[in-house]
Amino acid sequence: MQEIQTAAELRAWSRSTRASGATVGLVPTMGALHEGHLSLVRAARQRGDRVATSIFVNPTQFGPNEDFARYPRTFAADCALLEAEGVEVVFAPAVEEIYQPGASTFVEVKGLSQRLDGASRPGHFRGVATVVAKLFAAAEPERAYFGQKDAAQVAVLRRMVADLLLPMELVVCPIVREADGLAMSSRNRYLSAEERAESLALSRAVRAGEAAFARGQRSAESIRSAARHELERSPAVRADYVALVDWATLLPVETAAAGHLLAVAAWVGTTRLIDNCILGN
Ligand code: PAF
Repeated sequence: MQEIQTAAELRAWSRSTRASGATVGLVPTMGALHEGHLSLVRAARQRGDRVATSIFVNPTQFGPNEDFARYPRTFAADCALLEAEGVEVVFAPAVEEIYQPGASTFVEVKGLSQRLDGASRPGHFRGVATVVAKLFAAAEPERAYFGQKDAAQVAVLRRMVADLLLPMELVVCPIVREADGLAMSSRNRYLSAEERAESLALSRAVRAGEAAFARGQRSAESIRSAARHELERSPAVRADYVALVDWATLLPVETAAAGHLLAVAAWVGTTRLIDNCILGN
């Protein structure tokens, strides 16, 4: 596996890969890799793409009081995992490579970026859209792979790809869960043993909403309250939001239908976790 630090080298690799008749799949990550990330790599390989994975803890998507400084950085272990999955390139730029001195261009997907996680984390999606646009510009992939766990991020990036007329496909892969239901996340490693047990409230909340829909419930408020009830049963869990929205616009719906996104975010101790499902899936 080749380790690349500059956008120019990544673009050169991508272009020579394409010249050889292959397609390029990009898996953007912030490292601290787990099975969720590896499922994206496997999806890309299954589609026949040659895979580049980026590992970059992007400062602009963290708020001033968030976990940028302590975000887990496990580069050597990440590389071993990626190599075993047949990834060809790991792109691990320095902050100054991505944000060159004097950088003053940001990508803002208006409206969408202020909803769900964007409402709780002002500026977060501006940072995400900006770094992902830069990664796309450097890698020029045919496809880029993201997890459904970050469903609001997916909505923002789908809009960005369409609005910027980017000639690429965004592939969304299913949520990968631990055996007991917790959605995999690099932040799960912040949880104490007690918090880890309490964190199951999120997947239970999602399942409760899903079950209400499957039973024929169509009132958005009833579905949300079934989910909220599960979060409230856990004393160590503090709900941030429980939302039932149109996945494309992230706007709330009154009447639930197949394809709508039920999303929850909650604090377990000092760790903020998210989970979701697509109704009727
Ligand atoms: O989902 C993530 O890990 C990050 O938001 C991403 C897409 C790699 C951008 O930094």
